[in-house]
Amino acid sequence: MHLTKEEEAIYNGEFGATKQKAMEILVALGDIYGAESLIEIESAQISGVSYKTIGDAGLEWISSLDDRVKVPAILNPAGMDREKWSEMGVSEEFAAKQKEILKVYERLGVSLECTCTPYYLNPPAFGAHLAWAESSAVAYANSVLGARTNREAGPSALAAALIGKTPCYGLHLDENRAPEVLVRVDIELHDADYGALGYAVGKIVGDKVPLFRLPLSPSKDELKALGAALGASGAVALYHVKDVTPESGNFDVPTECISVDSEDIKKAYGGNTPDLVALGCPHCSGAELSKIADLLEGKKARTELWICTSRRVREQNKEAVTRIEQCGAKVICDTCMVVSPATEKFKRVMVNSGKALQYLPSMCGVDAMLANTEDCIKTACD
Ligand code: F3S
Repeated sequence: MHLTKEEEAIYNGEFGATKQKAMEILVALGDIYGAESLIEIESAQISGVSYKTIGDAGLEWISSLDDRVKVPAILNPAGMDREKWSEMGVSEEFAAKQKEILKVYERLGVSLECTCTPYYLNPPAFGAHLAWAESSAVAYANSVLGARTNREAGPSALAAALIGKTPCYGLHLDENRAPEVLVRVDIELHDADYGALGYAVGKIVGDKVPLFRLPLSPSKDELKALGAALGASGAVALYHVKDVTPESGNFDVPTECISVDSEDIKKAYGGNTPDLVALGCPHCSGAELSKIADLLEGKKARTELWICTSRRVREQNKEAVTRIEQCGAKVICDTCMVVSPATEKFKRVMVNSGKALQYLPSMCGVDAMLANTEDCIKTACD
């Protein structure tokens, strides 16, 4: 990979050990993937935040860094709500470690907004180059916003944030953004159906770029659910929806084709008697909080009901949050049902997310079941 004089000086340690380490990571990645050079990024989103996922080894590594990020950088969800962790049932030991992790990131200059929907806080422009790590955020940035990011790991996103650049390969390049497989869907989908669609298609297409042909135009929140599930059951980092997403008309339609029917969608649903109903994977938008508040109107949650969102979206939607909390549900920030250890005390979790359906069993050891948002609320209040 070609390095400028300044990049080479960083690589040789002239700007300190932390920047050197970061540059080594970027150069190694660039060499593996055949990048010709580094490219400037507008922002980074860093995963590897929950103590549950990074443990002491991860904490030790980030603690060894001593510098400040060069571009706006934001964190993925942590293992607990920074304010209501004890209400969630998180232990003091875990909370102490989690606070330590957040302190280190703060020292590095990373924003402590812990969310997988950073695009609600600072939406990147079409064509902007990024180094984002969380798979649903990556899918949304690439597919819905037309920004450009590879699916970074926590250390490579942090390295990119410290240098302000990332190796130019993969989805930063036009030629890798073309669809590779056409997905024909002839049934009308609503709400959690998009998570079910992503869950089914991700398993088939792996890391290919799918182009969906859908009978109805999905909302932005439905696209968010689709991308999250595609990235979880598969490794999709970019998808197109014909006549909906911004780059869908830029390429030829692929010859490889698969069809999805109502049976494929139905298969993802099922299960009952959850002891936790958890919504907000990915983190809820303001529109989703309002919808949940409306569905809860006049009801009382009898089963534990969590609504996960970012702290900023919570602050911007106080009226909906108050209505939700008055019905006995918990609006949880900074974390989610998958990365928090608080989920592990439950047995069966009902979700409206194809991504949570995929990850809850393996990451939390609980059974997961999919239902649409309305049924989730009904079940929690029955
Ligand atoms: Fe976000 Fe957690 Fe789902 S990080 S995408 S809410 S698994």
